[in-house]
Amino acid sequence: MGNKQKILVTGGLGYIGSHTVVALIQAGYEVVILDDLSNSSLMILDRIEQITGVRPSFYQINLLDKKQLYAIFSDETDLSAVIHFAAFKAVGESVREPVKYFTNNLVSLLHLLEVMDHFQVTNLVFSSSATVYGDARELPVKESTPFQKALSSYGSTKQMGEEILEKTAAVKDIQVISLRYFNPVGAHDSAWIGELPNGVPNNLMPYITQVAAGLRPSLTVFGNDYDTPDGTCVRDYIHVVDLAKAHVKSCGRLIDKKNRDSFEVFNIGTGKGLSVLEIIHAFEKQNQLSLKYEIGPRRSGDSPAMYADVTRAKEILRWEAELGLTEIVTSAWKWEQTLHPHNTCL
Ligand code: WQD
Repeated sequence: MGNKQKILVTGGLGYIGSHTVVALIQAGYEVVILDDLSNSSLMILDRIEQITGVRPSFYQINLLDKKQLYAIFSDETDLSAVIHFAAFKAVGESVREPVKYFTNNLVSLLHLLEVMDHFQVTNLVFSSSATVYGDARELPVKESTPFQKALSSYGSTKQMGEEILEKTAAVKDIQVISLRYFNPVGAHDSAWIGELPNGVPNNLMPYITQVAAGLRPSLTVFGNDYDTPDGTCVRDYIHVVDLAKAHVKSCGRLIDKKNRDSFEVFNIGTGKGLSVLEIIHAFEKQNQLSLKYEIGPRRSGDSPAMYADVTRAKEILRWEAELGLTEIVTSAWKWEQTLHPHNTCL
């Protein structure tokens, strides 16, 4: 126990964070979780323990509280790496509340960098997003594809976050891997952890599972007149358990000093685009149910199609997605059913 490598995970009780904590523990790491519980639940800590048999240390902290952050780093010595998930992520809200998003997502990152520098913690994995590409002009998008203007303040915070990290890593003793996630979906196979959306889901998969559970009357497909094979938008849906493993790989790469540059970026997706209708039909088929949906108008800000070139992750990070659409739709539904056990007859 004593000589395990220790990883600090901010936002470790969130959707992607909790799956990553489980993967880290299963890979033999010791984990320290920081989370302010603003979009997560303490119950997830129990669930992590159920799955792994290990209860990680946990600190309830908002990263804007720099003093508390210093105190935690002085208690938790010998950190091998930090994975920084903690951030606000609701795209629509970020458009209405830019200051809230810029403050939370960027000041917290700056605090973390200051404290890491002070305590000489040199490895950082950053939670970035495909949203940094904006409305990409070429598909599939490569890491070298130039950024277009961000479509939301949320997207700007990820672009700016990467810029802050690149400039810092160029001159300071810090090594950064930035993972640009495409569309994270699905849940842990145990159905002990998964996505816990706050209120009406913004994203497709939790909306689908809530309609299937009878919690919402029907799904609106946002537009079927796009220039795509079936007219609905195309995205690169990546299973959250695969995504979690990309973080474990990234930590190992930094700890073993295998990184080639002080700032590296990787697209984390499957490389395959799927339409909204393909997702709906796979969900219906694999779970043997029928989903109520209708075609509605386009949602503003949506790109017609977005999917990753994953060559870099495959060749350099030695990571690739292993789970497919079947595992995605079955695990998402299994998770939803554990949340609402009395509502599964539909
Ligand atoms: C997927 C597709 C919708 C809901 C967002 C962020 C992105 C990233 C992931 C964080 C789109 C369609 C959706 C519904 C629908 N997040 N849809 N009906 O917009 O691709 O990406 O989450 O980094 O930054 O922008 O994901 O799940 O909202 O939508 O038809 O009720 O499903 O139009 O084509 P999106 P999404």
